[in-house]
Amino acid sequence: MTLTTRPRGTNDVGPGEIELWHQLEEKIRQVCAAYGYQELRTPLFEHTELFQRGIGEATDIVEKEMYTFLDRGERSLTLRPEGTAPVVRAFLEHNLGGGALPVKLYYYGPMFRYERPQAGRYRQFTQFGFEALGSQDPLLDVEAIMLPLELYKACGLSGFEVEINSIGCPSCRPSYRQELVEYFEPRVDQLCSSCRSRLHRNPLRLLDCKVESCQAVLAGAPRMEAHLCSECADHFAQVLAYLDELGVAYRLNHRLVRGFDYYTKTVFEVTSSELGAQNAIGAGGRYDGLVEELGGKATPAVGFAVGVERLLLALEGQGKLQVQQEGPRAYLVHFGGATKRKAAQVAYFLRGKGMWAELDYLDRSIKAQMKAANRLGSRYVLIFGEEELSRNRLIVRNMQDGQEQELDLEDLERLAYILGECGK
Ligand code: HAM
Repeated sequence: MTLTTRPRGTNDVGPGEIELWHQLEEKIRQVCAAYGYQELRTPLFEHTELFQRGIGEATDIVEKEMYTFLDRGERSLTLRPEGTAPVVRAFLEHNLGGGALPVKLYYYGPMFRYERPQAGRYRQFTQFGFEALGSQDPLLDVEAIMLPLELYKACGLSGFEVEINSIGCPSCRPSYRQELVEYFEPRVDQLCSSCRSRLHRNPLRLLDCKVESCQAVLAGAPRMEAHLCSECADHFAQVLAYLDELGVAYRLNHRLVRGFDYYTKTVFEVTSSELGAQNAIGAGGRYDGLVEELGGKATPAVGFAVGVERLLLALEGQGKLQVQQEGPRAYLVHFGGATKRKAAQVAYFLRGKGMWAELDYLDRSIKAQMKAANRLGSRYVLIFGEEELSRNRLIVRNMQDGQEQELDLEDLERLAYILGECGK
């Protein structure tokens, strides 16, 4: 550890990159508005129990990945590893289900998981997620796929794939679990250590194991399909039919199970061909039991979360990211003393009009100030010379065509007009 190194698995996002984030954030707001989702901001930490109960004790996140600490009042708190449980907590705390249903909420911000960092996998990462609470309608599952696709397309992303599966509900899943255990038990020697340890706690998770040596056994594993109860089977068929009608391409992946206990029925993931091992640029699903699990009345729900860093990586891989660096509207060159004071006054006036007005704070030579204006890409340079100041004038130079004109310092509105209108 050094004072000049950030913690492992975290990122700084600064000039040159943050502009891309702003563009993406703007697109997120636009897509959410079009789909009728409103923003909800929840705390970065919650009571640990919320995630233990919500995500499930036997999941990787709860067992190994949470940033959990005791505060000075000895309460166990956890930096949020995901946004769904906090949204449900807020939904219940503020009785948001008391009005019109479904309630559609979105969130954007950092999540924290103690994972092994690698390209596209961080310990602090950003999610844009959304949740629709209060309806079983398969059309809402479809919406939870359409909305992120809309966002990916709005960003210009191509080469992504939707994978989809149904993992059933508490009435049909137990018999599947049982069949999986019976299938894996005699083959336990062929499984990796992590699969062996999960076999009885969470047998479904074996299906998404990526370890090479497990693949042969996994390929022959029984499928959920045959176990779906009629309600789940019908729901899934409707989701797929809507997707077909809408012309949305998807791949049925019977091994898609997801690492949260709250899911029921439909689960989905979007992967990008642009990324390596961490290729999921977003994932989600239906979770009809979570609201009840957290103490509310039975309320079906469905949602999705996009990994923002991964989306940006995928876009970068396709050369879709362009930072449009706007330079200052005006760089105010001065000669120190009274000219500096006048330049500062005019800078504040222009800034008050919403224009980026820059000036020298290091008492540099005129040549150095002109160089700085060029380097920043300023549209205009305003020159505050002593002689001009004595006549209450200033020189305005258009940096695109080199044209200069003198203006009256008493008429700053005209200056603003020229910089504003002609500078566009
Ligand atoms: P998740 O699959 O854990 O689902 O995360 C969603 C997305 O967040 C992933 O597809 C990935 O793009 C990104 N992500 C996850 N972990 C990391 C990481 N360590 N570093 C970088 N990106 C990461 C959820 O979190 C669910 N709450 C989604 C949901 C919402 N389900 C229903 N509603």
